[in-house]
Amino acid sequence: MPAASKVPAPPTDVLSILDVKDQIPRLLRRALELKAMRHRGTRYRPLEGKALAMIFEKPSTRTRSSFELAMSELGGHPVYLSPRDMQLGRGETIADTARVLSRYYHGIVYRAFRHADEEELAKWASVPVINALDDREHPCQILADLTTLHERFHGRFQGHRLAYIGDGNNVLVSLLLGSAAVGLDFVAAIPPKYRPDPSIVEQARSLARPKGSRVEIVTLPAEAARGSDVLYTDVWVSMGDEAQEAERKADFAQYRLDDALLDLARPGAFAMHDLPAHRGLEISDPVMDGERQAIWDQAENRLHAQKALLEWVLGTPRRRSR
Ligand code: CP
Ligand code: NVA
Repeated sequence: MPAASKVPAPPTDVLSILDVKDQIPRLLRRALELKAMRHRGTRYRPLEGKALAMIFEKPSTRTRSSFELAMSELGGHPVYLSPRDMQLGRGETIADTARVLSRYYHGIVYRAFRHADEEELAKWASVPVINALDDREHPCQILADLTTLHERFHGRFQGHRLAYIGDGNNVLVSLLLGSAAVGLDFVAAIPPKYRPDPSIVEQARSLARPKGSRVEIVTLPAEAARGSDVLYTDVWVSMGDEAQEAERKADFAQYRLDDALLDLARPGAFAMHDLPAHRGLEISDPVMDGERQAIWDQAENRLHAQKALLEWVLGTPRRRSR
C-alpha cells in the first residue's frame, strides 16, 4: 500500500512534539494503518536505500528496539551507536560527529542527557535529527501514547480528560503539549517543587484555547483523578536524576497510581505508563497486571508511531537539503 499522497513537507528536525504539532492527527491515523498492515503481514518497504544513525547516551529497551525494527521493516538500515564506543565519548565534538554522520545517513535519532546537545547535533547535521528522549522532552513516546488514545477513543479526543500524576519531567512536557495540540482536556497533579516552567504551561494553554479544551495543574492526585478518563504516570527518578533518588522517593510518596486512584476516575478509566515502571512506587502491581490499563498497547504503539514518523521524515522528498 503506498504512503498517503500529498503529505506536507516534513519538519527539518523533530526535537519537540511542537515540531510535528499540526500533523499529529495524520501521523496517528497513519500509525494505525501501518499497525494494521503489520498485523496482516503486508510487506511495505518505502525506505529502501535509506540509513538511520541511532545515538543513545542512555539505556533504552523500547525506543531502541522500536526504532531499529521500524527502520528495518520499512526497508531501511538502522545503525545503533553508543557514545561509549564512539570518538564522541573521547572528546570528538558533537558538531564534527554531526557533519560526518550526515555524509553516511539520511537521519539521526538521538537520546541525549541534555536538550542543548540535541540542538547542537541538529545545528550541524545536514540530515533530520529526531529526539529519542532528553532532559526536556520525549516526543516519540507521546506520538505512541496519542496513537493509543486515538485507538481507545475512536479518534475523538475532545471531551476526554487525561490526568498525569507525578514528576513534571520530559514525558510530562511532551504529553502536556501534545495533548493540548489534539484538544484533550489535560490535568496534571505535580508537587509544586517539580512543576515545569510556567511558559510551557502557557504554551499548552494557547494550543488548547482554539480547541475549547482545558489545561490545569493541581497538587493532589485525587483532584486530578476525579472526572478523568485516563490516569498517566511516569517514574519518580528519571535517568540523570539518580543523585536525588531519596529526596524524590519521599516527595512523591503520595503520587502512586493504584486502584484506589482509578476508582475516583470516570467509569471505564484506564492507566498509562511509558515504562520502565517501578512497581510499588509510582504504580501498583495490580494496576500494571490488571485490565484497567493501556500500558502494553502503548509500548507496542511505539513501533507503529515511529514508522509513521520515519516514513514522513525520511521518505518524503525535501525541497532542498540544508
Ligand atoms: N519509554 C521509553 O522510552 O522506554 P525506553 O527507555 O526503554 O526506551
Ligand atoms: N522520564 C523518564 C522516561 C523514561 C522513558 C526518564 O527520562 O528516565
